[in-house]
Amino acid sequence: MKVDVLLGLQWGDEGKGKVVDVLTPEYDVIARFQGGPNAGHTLEFDGIKHVLHTIPSGIFHNNKENVVGNGVVIDPIIFIKEIDALKKMGLNINERLAISRKAHLILPTHRLLDAASEQAKGKQKIGSTLKGIGPTYMDKTGRNGLRVGDVETTDFHKKYEQLRDKHLQILAQYDFEYDLKEMEEEWLNCMETFKQFRLIDSEHFINQARKENQKVLAEGAQGTLLDIDFGSYPFVTSSNTITAGACTGLGVAPNQIGEVFGIFKAYCTRVGSGPFPTELHDEIGEEIRKAGNEFGATTGRPRRCGWIDLPALKYAIMINGVTQLIMTKADVLSEFENIKVCTAYKHKGEIIDYLPFDVLDEEIEPIYEEVTGWKEDLTGLSSIEQIPVELNNYIQYLEDKLETPITIVSVGPDRKQTLIRKSEWSKA
Ligand code: GDP
Ligand code: IMO
Ligand code: MG
Repeated sequence: MKVDVLLGLQWGDEGKGKVVDVLTPEYDVIARFQGGPNAGHTLEFDGIKHVLHTIPSGIFHNNKENVVGNGVVIDPIIFIKEIDALKKMGLNINERLAISRKAHLILPTHRLLDAASEQAKGKQKIGSTLKGIGPTYMDKTGRNGLRVGDVETTDFHKKYEQLRDKHLQILAQYDFEYDLKEMEEEWLNCMETFKQFRLIDSEHFINQARKENQKVLAEGAQGTLLDIDFGSYPFVTSSNTITAGACTGLGVAPNQIGEVFGIFKAYCTRVGSGPFPTELHDEIGEEIRKAGNEFGATTGRPRRCGWIDLPALKYAIMINGVTQLIMTKADVLSEFENIKVCTAYKHKGEIIDYLPFDVLDEEIEPIYEEVTGWKEDLTGLSSIEQIPVELNNYIQYLEDKLETPITIVSVGPDRKQTLIRKSEWSKA
């Protein structure tokens, strides 16, 4: 059985956590393949709202395996906090969760380096979540990193101290004050708890599951426009958030990838710095932020809001090989008479329909088409047949432009507010 992938097509927060939770009953294994606690994946069911950072979004279902793959970076302090919250809900974590020995560890000094680097950048800052993501991936590619499996070796403490001391030398070059002692103590304590979890060679685990015809869903974090190679560099995260990241982050061969679910909001948001061509700086942007409750699940920062951007989405669909689209937060646009859709950009006096390389240096002006809004509350709908005709038109319009079927429409944060759609879109 091939591995399916679900990932974000915009700048993150598309609703991945919610939809992975909805799809989990169809799968045997849910696996995170990149990112770390910079992610905040929200799930809502039975009146409970829960935010996951490192743990896959299949964790609330019985008899499912959840795997944290080798491509993920883990902060044991945040991880243990997540586990404690889940234990309080009565979940038997060890039955449901396994962690790759090859996943890299975020040290307290990685977090300090992240903060020092952002502070030094001043106005040019990335707007990092300050979870130590960049410095940890830098140590991974720099071949200095500490991995989960190292905790099972006798000289773990020595390895930790060596890396920490390297970091302290770098920190000395910044004008940055810190107090490591408490953080370090907590981190070392958490590592003691952490090593009691099920540590596995996840590439073997996943491929064995696949061979036994089990269904595996790879859960992306962040979004395609934050990808280290194809995102709006340097305002990106430090991992490959795209389908290829599922191959390297889990050890799945490219010819073993099946469906690729690309998820996007009916509009667009971004948190942190960097280009956002369709961003709205007016009261409409404010209205979307309010209606969509657009505040970061990890940092609480207000998210920047704007209209949907089709050139950017087309790019993301191309890079990921998306086979099915999932649209979330359609309910948030219910207030609007008309909805704008960016179909191209004006750039250096020309009309283009792709994201140019110099998006940071040159003005790009979005060109919009307008579609009629539905002006109807969608949050109580239970089947796709009930959607207003204007929303159906919007969906079909997007399918035509994006040349990809939309098979799930989400109309609220709860599990139940999910409409499955038999798409009739075809390229012919
Ligand atoms: P993720 O990082 O992709 O998992 O997304 P986040 O959890 O960071 O942000 C998505 C937010 O939108 C969360 O608060 C979800 O509960 C909420 N959400 C998801 N789908 C919908 C939807 O269809 N409508 C509304 N109104 N909220 C949604
Ligand atoms: P989920 O999985 C939205 C953004 C940060 C910042 C940039 C780099 O919930 O969709 P980092 O901490 O990775 O060095 O930050 O990336 N960012 C996200 N934005 N959703 C996320 O995750 C994000 N993870 C990182 O705001 O601009
Ligand atoms: Mg999020």
